[in-house]
Amino acid sequence: MKSVTINTLNNHKAGGDKFPVITAYDSAFAHQIELAGIDVILVGDSLGNVILGYSSTVPVTMDDMLHHTGAVSRGNSKSLIIADMPFMSYATEEATLANAALLMQAGAQMVKVEGGAWLEESVFSLSQRGVPVCGHLGLTPQSFNKLGGYKVQGRDDEGAELILRDAKILQEAGADMLVLECVPTNLATAITKVLDIPVIGIGAGPNTDAQVLVLYDMLGFSPRIPKFTRNFLADTNSVQLALQAYADAVRSGDFPQAEHGFK
Ligand code: KIV
Repeated sequence: MKSVTINTLNNHKAGGDKFPVITAYDSAFAHQIELAGIDVILVGDSLGNVILGYSSTVPVTMDDMLHHTGAVSRGNSKSLIIADMPFMSYATEEATLANAALLMQAGAQMVKVEGGAWLEESVFSLSQRGVPVCGHLGLTPQSFNKLGGYKVQGRDDEGAELILRDAKILQEAGADMLVLECVPTNLATAITKVLDIPVIGIGAGPNTDAQVLVLYDMLGFSPRIPKFTRNFLADTNSVQLALQAYADAVRSGDFPQAEHGFK
C-alpha cells in the first residue's frame, strides 16, 4: 500500500470506492493494520473504554492520547492516522490549536473533534493553519451525560435537520472528513450524498463512503459487542486475516449490511 493522504481518500469518494477505517492504540496492531492495507487508523478516545477500563471516554487525557498516538505512528507509516481530541481539550479555540499541535507533533495527520456549529471557528482556524480535521456528529460519546446516554441520534425530523445542518457547517469551515455515529441509515445516506468530503459511518448503515469499527469490537474482545459491528476473528484464528477480511468486506460492500444500521 502507498502512503494514504487526504487526496487518496477524496479520490476514493469521487470514484465511489468505499474504504476501511479502524481504531488502534499501539504499535503492534498498527503494524498489522498497515500489512492489511487499511487506509485509515483512528487513535480513538475509545481507548478509555477498551484499553484503560473506564466506563466512558470522559476521563481520557491529552497525555493518554499523545502516548497512544506516538505508539501507533511508530508502527505504521502507510495508513493515514487520525487522533481524537479528548474531552474538553478543544473547549476553546486557543486550547484547540495548542492541543492539536501536540497531537500532530506526536504523529497524527488529522485530528477529530466531536460536535457541530459551536466548533465552526476552531475547525476554520485549524484548517487555515494546516491541520486537517475530521468532524464527528450523531452519537458523540464525550457528551453522553448531556445526551442522556448512548442513544441513536437524529431519529426525528428536528434532530435529523440539526445533524445535516451541522455537517454542512463543518464542511464549510474546512473539515476534511466526517464521522457519523449511530444515526438512521436514511439520514447518513442523505448526508453522504450532500457532502463533498468523505463520510465515515459507524452504526450509520451501508451507504456512507467509509466505515470505522473499534478494533477490539471487531476482534470480539469487548465485553459488550454493539449491534453495528461484526466479529471478523470468529471465522479465522489470525488477527491479520481478520483485518484483511474487514478491509475486503468494506470495499466490496459486504459490510455493513442493513441489519448493522438503524431505522
Ligand atoms: O473513539 C473512537 O473509537 C471513535 C469511533 C467509535 C468513531 O470515535
